Amino acid sequence: MALYSEKVMDHFRNPRNVGAIENADGVGEVGNAKCGDIMKIYLKIEDEVVTDVKFETFGCGSAIASSSMATEMIKGKPVSEVLKLTNQAVTEALGGLPAHKVHCSVLAEEAVRAAVKDYYEHRSSEC
Ligand code: FES
Repeated sequence: MALYSEKVMDHFRNPRNVGAIENADGVGEVGNAKCGDIMKIYLKIEDEVVTDVKFETFGCGSAIASSSMATEMIKGKPVSEVLKLTNQAVTEALGGLPAHKVHCSVLAEEAVRAAVKDYYEHRSSEC
């Protein structure tokens, strides 16, 4: 059996939503201390809905596939739902990840949460 699912390979080879958003409403950057990989998520939010999302990931193929899938899963969703995104949901949507690569999907969950946190912090400082 192949180590990686077709979906993982697809999102790794053709990652969706790669790049940065200028004047993003929320930016989250996280890193994994062990492997040194870094993931950055940019959110554009209007009326509490994620209207655009992009990512920059300097990391392994599983981290890139996880970022790509996570951005697809949160695009167009209300912020309250985005906060419920888990690494398990990302892993399932990818058709699974090898056990030693599950931590790569955790980066996606953490980066999305960090971006939402950044959004809330900015919003509250504008009041
Ligand atoms: Fe570091 Fe995958 S090995 S995120």
